[in-house]
Amino acid sequence: MSKNIRIISSLNEMNEFSNELKRGSKKIAFVPTMGALHEGHLSLVSRANQIADHTVVSIFVNPMQFGQNEDFGNYTRDLEGDTDKLSSYKVDAVFLPDSKDIYPENFQTYLEVTEIQKELCGKSRPGHFRGVATVVLKLFNIVQPDYAVFGQKDFQQLKVIERFVKDLHLGVEIIPMPIVREEDGLALSSRNAYLSEEERARALSLSKALYAISQRFRDGCKDAGLLVEEGMNILNNSDVNDIDYLEIRDSQNLELIKTAQSGNLVAVAAKIGNTRLIDNIIL
Ligand code: PAJ
Repeated sequence: MSKNIRIISSLNEMNEFSNELKRGSKKIAFVPTMGALHEGHLSLVSRANQIADHTVVSIFVNPMQFGQNEDFGNYTRDLEGDTDKLSSYKVDAVFLPDSKDIYPENFQTYLEVTEIQKELCGKSRPGHFRGVATVVLKLFNIVQPDYAVFGQKDFQQLKVIERFVKDLHLGVEIIPMPIVREEDGLALSSRNAYLSEEERARALSLSKALYAISQRFRDGCKDAGLLVEEGMNILNNSDVNDIDYLEIRDSQNLELIKTAQSGNLVAVAAKIGNTRLIDNIIL
């Protein structure tokens, strides 16, 4: 394990350390993660380094946001690899809370962002965004950051968090960051590690479908139905059959739209083998 990174597991110690860091009007930027860090996560850490005096990264595989048949048990845990990667950045602390401290006995309080959580991933992952919102609020309360950096890769998650920060008058500024991709277009994801070579080739059709829609939009097609059809053809031709959704939505309230406009969200979720992947693009 890398020597110079401070790892904090105790909730109290994290809270006190944050108070110490903030002394003298110093600012903290916070990057919450579930570990298995890749360049996508690291781009957030790099941004955090730019915007604040101090950077705190959390690694917590949050059981509450996984469904019963999802990959909580198999989710990659690689603390040594993660701290190694973080050692190239200025990270004041890695917060590594214990599940039994985050969810003590008798825990019964949840945060729900009722509308934004409904659509897209909310339909096939009931309870997922409640789990995300609840844990992110808890992490905010413990770490007390001035800024929190999130990737647009999880676009709906970003909107859920932006909404509750506003609705609950939290003093955290949410900083969104663009999706980091492989050279061929595949969006980086901790779950890509599950893919066989053959599955990875099929997974590439997600970004291809999004790019094709974006190109057709730029060529003048504004009919959301036709645009989606274009993307669906690409997915179907690549044997991606287990498509959860491919939709064009308003990027603020996530409502479905009929006539596409610049700034709209095109979002896709599909299962490749047993691996559920998501990706999106803004028109
Ligand atoms: P995790 O999937 O580990 O992602 C942590 C952060 O990294 C999120 O903000 C996510 O959007 C961002 N990220 C992932 N892949 C990215 C990519 N290719 N480019 C840019 N950013 C990327 O999201 C979670 O963890 C959890 O739900 C969490 C917010 C930590 C709550 O448990």
